[in-house]
Amino acid sequence: MRLTIFGSGYVGLVTGVCFAEVGNHVLCVDVDERKVAMLKRGESPIYEPGLDELLKKNIAAGRLSFTSDAAEGVKHGLFQFIAVGTPPDEDGSADMRYVLAVAEAIGQHISEYRIVVDKSTVPVGTADRVKAKIAATLRARGAAAEFDVVSNPEFLKEGAAIADFMKPDRIIVGTDNPRTGELLKALYDPFTRNHDRMIVMDVRSAELTKYAANAMLATKISFMNELANLAERVGADIEKVRRGIGSDPRIGYQFIYPGCGYGGSCFPKDVQALERSARDYKFDAPLLQAVENVNRKQKEVLFQKISRHYAGEVRGKTIALWGLAFKPNTDDMREAPSRSLMESLWQAGAKVRAYDPVAMHEAKRIYGDRPDFVLAKSADEALAGADALAIVTEWQEFRSPDFDGMRAKLTQPLIFDGRNLYDPAFLKQFGFIYYGIGRGASVAVSIPA
Ligand SMILES: NC(=O)c1ccc[n+]([C@@H]2O[C@H](COP(=O)([O-])OP(=O)(O)OC[C@H]3O[C@@H](n4cnc5c(N)ncnc54)[C@H](O)[C@@H]3O)[C@@H](O)[C@H]2O)c1
Repeated sequence: MRLTIFGSGYVGLVTGVCFAEVGNHVLCVDVDERKVAMLKRGESPIYEPGLDELLKKNIAAGRLSFTSDAAEGVKHGLFQFIAVGTPPDEDGSADMRYVLAVAEAIGQHISEYRIVVDKSTVPVGTADRVKAKIAATLRARGAAAEFDVVSNPEFLKEGAAIADFMKPDRIIVGTDNPRTGELLKALYDPFTRNHDRMIVMDVRSAELTKYAANAMLATKISFMNELANLAERVGADIEKVRRGIGSDPRIGYQFIYPGCGYGGSCFPKDVQALERSARDYKFDAPLLQAVENVNRKQKEVLFQKISRHYAGEVRGKTIALWGLAFKPNTDDMREAPSRSLMESLWQAGAKVRAYDPVAMHEAKRIYGDRPDFVLAKSADEALAGADALAIVTEWQEFRSPDFDGMRAKLTQPLIFDGRNLYDPAFLKQFGFIYYGIGRGASVAVSIPA
């Protein structure tokens, strides 16, 4: 089949590459000329395991190409995927400018039947807005063409995006037209060979499903972070509590890791956008507000621990930072907890020596050269001469380090672990002062009388 995909970011590019890999002819359209030029050369602008290889292979096979010309895109595919960004607007609601710009481009160039498939995460009602935009643009041109607008939210996880796309848990399709449902079934068939994973529903339910999934996952994290903060005060170890509750199959082990807050391009903005859209309907969503507030505060917890340790005298200290990406296996630093920590440290007059296996170029792009920021070439190099280590991303390579070597490099054996990678008792044996998240007694509070 012939597909066009608007937006060559994490979602659009992975979608394009995976559809090409199973034999479709895919044209990816992006407004970013620099990105398009890179992609045409077979270079991926993002880090995603397995992406480079599939990108090069499918370009070479003639099934995958790139352009910045929207007209060419609209002409190419029966399916017109929208996979552009929906960043937060000033008030936290989803900014629909890019989605509607694609709708307008489709309206300007459409001349025969097209299925417009919205893969971006968008508020309920967006399919109607996209439909209205295309129709109005067609009318303004004095032209007519048939089209359907379908919601097909994406659930891939950065860091495992190719695997998620190739073997999805589910494919959600929201459509009011059974015929487009059948066409999408045929398109997705190669990814659902062993059993049917497609759930077809009405458009509005599909749009809400995506927000519901992310809000539920974010809720689990904020819940655990709140309990971790309580555990510190009551002298309990949240890691033991985590195992204790995760063993209940109704709760499960996933997404109940306490830490220094969730980041990334999805959870923070999607929880906010859902809460803001509830407001549009004059509906109060206190749980979503709490999830967001708990997370915002949680991103400050590591800095507070550092500041408390130094009795507020953080100025002049050098902190080694392990991890910049918002989670392992990606270079994405959008809303990353590392950013909140670094910015607080800088504001307090501290220096940062950071290392991340893949996100260094992204950190450089965001912060540029500054005297209080060193990008070290390795985890070890980040430690050299630093006063303490802070861990923000749970990369595999940080899990089992040479503790003796670490102690020798740091001016003081001091670790602030935002991901609970180590056993506090074990580190104590090595002579470290160790602060985790929710690991008991790090905030000494006596039981109220
Ligand atoms: N990143 C994820 O893990 C993930 C997962 C599921 C869903 N989503 C959702 O998918 C959407 C895309 O996210 P992303 O992370 O891929 O975004 P991204 O920022 O990585 O990529 C968006 C791309 O769209 C391009 N673009 C903007 N306007 C355009 C236009 N008019 N025509 C063509 N291209 C245009 C941009 O240049 C950019 O390359 C968002 O709604 C996001 O919430 C993201």
